[in-house]
Amino acid sequence: MPGLTDATRGRILFGGDYNPEQWPEEVWQEDVRLMKEAGVNSVTVGVFSWAELEPTPGAREFGWLDRLMDLMHENGIGVVLATPTASPPPWMGRLHPETLPRDEDGRIEWWGGRQHFAHSSAVYRRYAAAITEDLAARYGGHPALTMWHINNEYCTYDWGDEAATAFRRWLQGRYGTLDALNTAWGTAFWSQGYDDWEGILPPRHAHYMNNPTQVLDFKRFTSDALMECFVAERDIVARHTPNIPVTSNFMPFWQGQDAWAWAGREDVVSVDSYPDPRDPLGGQYGALIHDMTRSQARGGPWMVMEQAAGPVNWRGVNHPKPPGLNRLWSLQAVARGADAVCYFQWRQSRQGAEKFHSGMVSHAGERGRTFQEVKRIGAELALLSEKVADTRVTGADVAVLLDWNAWWASGQDGRLSGEVDYPAVVRAWHRALWEANVTASFAHPEHDLSAYKLVVLPQLYLLTDTAIDNLVAYVRGGGTVVSGFLTGVADQDDRVRQGGMDERLRKLFGIRTLHEWWPLDADEKVGVEGFRGTLWSEEIEAADEAYAVIPYKGGELDGLPAVLRKGRAWYLSTLPEPAALWPLLAGIAEDAGVRPALDHLPAGVEAVRRGELLFLLHHGRDTVTVPVPGRHRDLLTGEDVVDAVELGRYGAAVLEAAP
Ligand code: GAL
Repeated sequence: MPGLTDATRGRILFGGDYNPEQWPEEVWQEDVRLMKEAGVNSVTVGVFSWAELEPTPGAREFGWLDRLMDLMHENGIGVVLATPTASPPPWMGRLHPETLPRDEDGRIEWWGGRQHFAHSSAVYRRYAAAITEDLAARYGGHPALTMWHINNEYCTYDWGDEAATAFRRWLQGRYGTLDALNTAWGTAFWSQGYDDWEGILPPRHAHYMNNPTQVLDFKRFTSDALMECFVAERDIVARHTPNIPVTSNFMPFWQGQDAWAWAGREDVVSVDSYPDPRDPLGGQYGALIHDMTRSQARGGPWMVMEQAAGPVNWRGVNHPKPPGLNRLWSLQAVARGADAVCYFQWRQSRQGAEKFHSGMVSHAGERGRTFQEVKRIGAELALLSEKVADTRVTGADVAVLLDWNAWWASGQDGRLSGEVDYPAVVRAWHRALWEANVTASFAHPEHDLSAYKLVVLPQLYLLTDTAIDNLVAYVRGGGTVVSGFLTGVADQDDRVRQGGMDERLRKLFGIRTLHEWWPLDADEKVGVEGFRGTLWSEEIEAADEAYAVIPYKGGELDGLPAVLRKGRAWYLSTLPEPAALWPLLAGIAEDAGVRPALDHLPAGVEAVRRGELLFLLHHGRDTVTVPVPGRHRDLLTGEDVVDAVELGRYGAAVLEAAP
């Protein structure tokens, strides 16, 4: 399988989405000059160029792309060439309305924006395959080509008729018989029993709550249907260029794609990373995105395909990045394993819906602060390239378990609390590890966990039998596990397990009876000895061999276990406030033999080890002194560091042990 090194030739990729079709060709010359000044070595081209390439059905306009590819090659800039299939030209919707997706109310998503393609439309797929084939045939041998980028952030749901047909086919593949489907979906409830496959629909707008397993399967199906589109295009380009790696960029924490399943089908995993510069925990969110993507790449290369050099334009209020933040977050991506740091987009647009979204070259041009910072980042990444090439993050001994099926099933109508948001719960637990300066990985609950010293389940409402057996075996084999509330409640069909929680898990954690769930209101806190819990609490009776490490204090659950422990298995029936979760988790991690990346870090400083390098990243604004025992050299400044390094606002150091 081709890897990223084939594309990077040993360099960290630095660059961004480049949309030359938005500019007169004189500007291209200017672009190249500035790219070289900034150390840009990679551009992603063609993401939304379908109407330029195929202005009328079947036509091909490759002239501009030929010139662009040549120009990039002449200037030593590699091209990640995108298939343009995320945004069909207007003629497609006009001539073939069935290529337009429908929402759950049956409304058409019209052209005029983007991503208006019906994933299961045969006509869409035919046109997508044809343009992909011709691009691959024409540019497969071009020396500028370094990688294929398929589509963009696959994200369309479709409740239309062709999607309904494909959904039925998918269900036949999963269940075989209608009886099996009726059983899995529990259709005895509310008179939903199906007598014919033709009667089954995507979960369209209904009078009252849809069948939850139908909704769950529709989400599974959507991820698979989009993946079919991806795989079809991937196979076309791979046939032409077996040695050129293929990627498709993820949105992190996007419901529509089961990233575990997708990542296994990509040569290089890539992600679009947009933490909010105003978020005081933006650095933590970035770390989570990197940890998640690195883990999805499962030891393989991965890249930040997009980030913003300044503001985005899709939040309520869009803030610029203060000086230094772009550099800090770029270095953080490298620290956490990225082999590419790229942006959306190279040059800020003057027209279109994203004209207020930043670019590496902002409206202020080359004298603007944004470009000046980009230049600095490019120069520093070039300094680091050789040292980080082919290295991996080390010391990530904790696995945070993450699963799309659990997310899909837990977030539905009819649940006990609308306040429990799965990504927010995962983020709270990752934050605790980040604050404890423990480098986390993510894993699927059915992965082999034996390499990890500690396994953390922020919440996995749905767990398959295989996953449960995996966890039990992990603890039996000497592993330590910590689980958050509302875990192991449902089986793969979203059927509640006997007793409200799987019996094997109740045994594992020492829970005799789970009497009731006690969800909390938005601002409500529950008293626990020594701290307060948020979001949720549970009325649990511990089994004899378990003990309540920390009881609830006051309220209805007074004296009952909030935190339970049985041997190496811990269960937290509430979500402790942040100030309590991290010391609790840090203590469990330490007992499990997990070491932080560096001891005695000042608050706000993140330490990560990649290969032989120690990255120090300061997310705060006040100057701090970080103790680093021994002699090191800071690769960014070339200076020696003896026993301590000082970091100013958003400062960073990349230390290598001095000989
Ligand atoms: C991404 C997308 C880009 C651009 C960017 C703006 O979701 O892939 O094309 O729209 O967001 O932040």
